[in-house]
Amino acid sequence: MAYPVGLRLEGKKVVVIGGGQVAQRRLPALIAAGADVTLVAPAATPSVEAMAAAGELCWEQRPYRDGDLADAWYALVATGDPEANAAASAEAEAHRVWCVRSDDASRATAWTPATGRSEGVTVAVLTGRDPRRSAAVRDAIVEGLHDGTLAAPRHRERTPGVALVGGGPGDPDLITVRGRRLLAEADVVIADRLGPRDLLDELAPHVEVIDAAKIPYGRFMAQEAINNALIEHARAGKSVVRLKGGDPFVFGRGMEEAEALAEAGIPCTVVPGVTSSISVPGAAGIPVTHRGVAHEFTVVSGHVAPGDERSLTNWPALARTTGTIVVLMGVERIAAIAETLTAHGRPADTPVAAIQEGTTAAQRRVDGTLADIAVRIRDEDIRPPAVIVIGDVVTRTRRDR
Ligand SMILES: C[S@@+](CC[C@H](N)C(=O)[O-])C[C@H]1O[C@@H](n2cnc3c(N)ncnc32)[C@H](O)[C@@H]1O
Repeated sequence: MAYPVGLRLEGKKVVVIGGGQVAQRRLPALIAAGADVTLVAPAATPSVEAMAAAGELCWEQRPYRDGDLADAWYALVATGDPEANAAASAEAEAHRVWCVRSDDASRATAWTPATGRSEGVTVAVLTGRDPRRSAAVRDAIVEGLHDGTLAAPRHRERTPGVALVGGGPGDPDLITVRGRRLLAEADVVIADRLGPRDLLDELAPHVEVIDAAKIPYGRFMAQEAINNALIEHARAGKSVVRLKGGDPFVFGRGMEEAEALAEAGIPCTVVPGVTSSISVPGAAGIPVTHRGVAHEFTVVSGHVAPGDERSLTNWPALARTTGTIVVLMGVERIAAIAETLTAHGRPADTPVAAIQEGTTAAQRRVDGTLADIAVRIRDEDIRPPAVIVIGDVVTRTRRDR
């Protein structure tokens, strides 16, 4: 895999070895970037000759020889002679000069992306070793930018007000297409700790990213401070995205924000998201329902323990159901939850799985039963965010992942 970078070559020496078709294609961009180009080639195409004649590059009309790359910043090796290419590429390596090779990309230290431009945007696409695909992707992007079908703030009408966007469980690919488009158009993004935080790195530099957990809330409750921040930025005419983990309306306080915005007369769009309550078990290979095993699943918050007067969950009734129970925010209270479910009729050997940071590179899973899951979670140091799945579906795990 290549690491993409934008080289600023103005005034920097770039050496091109070989004056054929490859050089002819690459030289204009190097010249346009202001590079100080030296071409080493006994012969060149008429177009390349014309560039030399116009003084756009310095042509040394001879074959490559050792030392040509000594003071280069960047090199393009493209002769018809494999030995010369190998020698030049070895010299580039010795001098630590990034070097593109037209004859053997696998031996090159740099690859040229398929590039295109549209109104100040440079598009550069690498697809490993499939240049046609790179070109096709480049064309699609450039065309989309041209005709405005690709979300890019300068080319689209901005969505006024606030979008409450469900970002999915964490994997950046699990946000919806609409959510991603609104994110790309936003001026201000207020993000939760959970959700696809990697997407924030992709935002344009002018976008103000606010960590919801860090909004100073003084005498207000945290949620009220977030509501106020949403209202304030929207009133200032900004396109605001409230990026939330999972789905905004599943233990996400999305409705509180929607109501506050409605009261303030601010337009609000809600974009559903992939909730962790289904996707995290799924990412661990666990279906929340399965024919002949579970005909229902209940998603329950474990943020307060059974028996706590603030709890709205009828735990005894839940214990008597036969379906899957999915507990969010329950790591700290799993002992009380498991005990209550067992006390009210769920068999102690009911399978349980806890999945931490599902869909991300850090995903971990611990299995047990209602009898021992609290100990297993403690011993294996499972921490929030985690989803706990209780029921026979746990044993239906797809192990072929
Ligand atoms: C405040 S709730 C928000 C739920 C969110 N709105 C949703 O639909 O997924 C936070 C809880 O969701 C669960 N959660 C969210 N993302 C998770 C992930 N990637 N892996 C495991 N659990 C996750 C955890 O139980 C966490 O404590």
